[in-house]
Amino acid sequence: TTTTPYFFTTSQTVQGIYKPRKRFDHKGKYGHLLLIGGSKGMIGAVQLSTKAALRSGSGKTTVIVPACGYEIMQATCPEAMCIADPSRNHIVASTLLSPFSAIGIGPGIGRHEQTAKAIRSILEDAKVPVVIDADALNMLAENEEWWDFLPENSILTPHVGEFERLTDIHFINSFDRLEAASKMAQERKVIIVLKGANTAICLPNGHIHFNSTGNPGMAKGGSGDALLGIISGLLAQSYTPQEAAILGVYIHGKAGDYTAIDKSVEAMTTSDLIDNIGKVFLGI
Ligand code: APR
Ligand code: MG
Repeated sequence: TTTTPYFFTTSQTVQGIYKPRKRFDHKGKYGHLLLIGGSKGMIGAVQLSTKAALRSGSGKTTVIVPACGYEIMQATCPEAMCIADPSRNHIVASTLLSPFSAIGIGPGIGRHEQTAKAIRSILEDAKVPVVIDADALNMLAENEEWWDFLPENSILTPHVGEFERLTDIHFINSFDRLEAASKMAQERKVIIVLKGANTAICLPNGHIHFNSTGNPGMAKGGSGDALLGIISGLLAQSYTPQEAAILGVYIHGKAGDYTAIDKSVEAMTTSDLIDNIGKVFLGI
């Protein structure tokens, strides 16, 4: 018997995870996603996450943004519901979490002290798995006690810099970094999506899944925001956290690969990538 903890996500893997919709399904079956993000100058980040979630099959999507982002979201993401935070430029309020089946936090959220308080109380109240990205990860790095109330099987999506902040270690060797990510996943019982050219998904059971899709055209602002939207959009449906992470990372990369063929790695944008998510579903 083999004991290697390493796996490689292929088209066969995602065929096994993908759940086709049935003729008489209704939107209630596909969950209700809550996305929380944005701050003055970074509403675009949460906008990209929302668009990506809408393209990933989330039944209903509600977005909380600071008041300055409300009209922008309503005008550009008509399929999503929007709640304006009482504060104009950054999120300060925690919210009622009961109707939601998954929560995504962090895109463009900034690092305001009041925002950190709001996120803390959201994490404390959360009863569903949460996907945590960007500055919400940096806040977790600064507030060790938050680990105590992170819902089990939450998904963290750090790039290398964010991961180093979480560990407070600068890794010279990428294998050491990977081992540390796997250890964190096992000890904290979370899923670590360590992003990069070969994104590694570290599971609480010690397994590590390497992704096979994606290209350097995705090394661009906003690309991670789309990933958060895809993973949390899948999580809001009936995908398990492990499935949402593996399938989400694959879809993100594959949509990027279609986009690069169309547009070149130089010219492609995250908005183009989001427009190609549908092509990926059609090909599974
Ligand atoms: N090959 C394949 N995929 C890549 C490559 C590459 N060479 N480079 C990047 N990617 C993918 C990563 O795997 C990841 O999914 O693109 C995405 C980039 O995500 P982030 O690093 O989070 O980048 P971005 O969305 O631009 O983040 C912008 O958010 O995380 C904060 O502080 C951070 O200011 C930054 C902001
Ligand atoms: Mg990012």
